[in-house]
Amino acid sequence: MPGPHPTPLVGRARELDVLEVALDSASRGFGGLVALTGEAGIGKTRLAEEVVARACELGFVPAWGSGWPEGGSPPLWPWQDILEQLGDAEAVRVLDGHAERDALDPERFARFRRIGQAVAKAASERPLIIVVDDAQATDRGALLLARFLARSLHRAKVLLLVTYRIDLGSAADAPEVVDALVDLTADGTRLELRGLDEADVAEVVSRSGRPPAASDLAALRQLTGGNPLLVHEALAAGVLDHSPVPSRVRRLLLSRLAPFGEAERSILVTVAVLGATGDENLVAAVSGASVASVRAVCERARSAGLLRPDPVSGHEGFAHGLLRDALVEQEDAPVLTAMHRRAADELAALPSASTPEAVTRIAHHRALAAA
Ligand SMILES: Nc1ncnc2c1ncn2[C@@H]1O[C@H](COP(=O)(O)OP(=O)(O)OP(=O)(O)O)[C@@H](O)[C@H]1O
Ligand SMILES: [Mg+2]
Repeated sequence: MPGPHPTPLVGRARELDVLEVALDSASRGFGGLVALTGEAGIGKTRLAEEVVARACELGFVPAWGSGWPEGGSPPLWPWQDILEQLGDAEAVRVLDGHAERDALDPERFARFRRIGQAVAKAASERPLIIVVDDAQATDRGALLLARFLARSLHRAKVLLLVTYRIDLGSAADAPEVVDALVDLTADGTRLELRGLDEADVAEVVSRSGRPPAASDLAALRQLTGGNPLLVHEALAAGVLDHSPVPSRVRRLLLSRLAPFGEAERSILVTVAVLGATGDENLVAAVSGASVASVRAVCERARSAGLLRPDPVSGHEGFAHGLLRDALVEQEDAPVLTAMHRRAADELAALPSASTPEAVTRIAHHRALAAA
């Protein structure tokens, strides 16, 4: 049995409660499926590892498989890996030579049944916890097999834990995989992981050996949206000391914008410069795009989890300040200067221009336009 995890788990009490109940039910023969979803770095794998560790303490046998995003894995991967860990070489052979055919393929159904029997047999001895990590990087057949097992094993001692990234809909995701994930999770419990709250971020900071100052914590929570990967990276890179966004983090963040074309990105840069989506007419005027395009891009960014209401102010903006900073930093300086000038002019022309809030915003944009 491996030793304690190098990164102690912080927070996630609500999710752990649900997962403990699922483990308890599975150990009593009422198996099921739990899906953990959320953006990259939010802690899906870490939470799954925690659940596996707790399951092992309860006497479960673990089997862990991961989707392989780089291509070239055999059809139905990672089920071969999972069955091998369950010690069923014969079941692995059943999957070998499986070709990806249509859903009505009777041969495939027979194979699925055979796999179901193999898993049921293993679970008759000791309860099982099976993890399919990064399920967005598997094929449709692998997800269909997961669904078949979740249905056929609901009276077996099996907890099937599936994790997948929520920024589905990005260009990398095949539509049939997205549909299959939706179908799969409809049969189980879906837990969407959100950012850690400020108290949890404080714990991560104190574990890192930095004395947590209250103002730093609020800034760190705002910059990272409580995304644990970003919190760890920001601390390691000293982002609170006002260093630029580290390049590794910037690459990770900007990769989430890959599905957006150039014109759409320019709208998102405008939102980043303005600091919030707020008034669509203002975003349209500053970016030069139509209001309809602004609305459509914001809607897509919203469903990809890139835009989100701020938990304190309620104003919608980027899910984390680091993403906003990364977007702004990769834009050419003259483009940004022109944007700030237009933002100041547009705000000054509004009837609300003399309110204290507007005066501060206009001054901010004028200062950056002159920089
Ligand atoms: N609750 C937590 N407490 C402390 N650290 C955490 C927590 N959740 C995640 N981390 C750490 O943050 C980093 C990212 O977490 P993890 O790899 O689990 O994210 P993920 O959601 O699986 O991302 P991906 O979509 O890229 O697979 C890891 O270093 C992990 O140890
Ligand atoms: Mg992961």
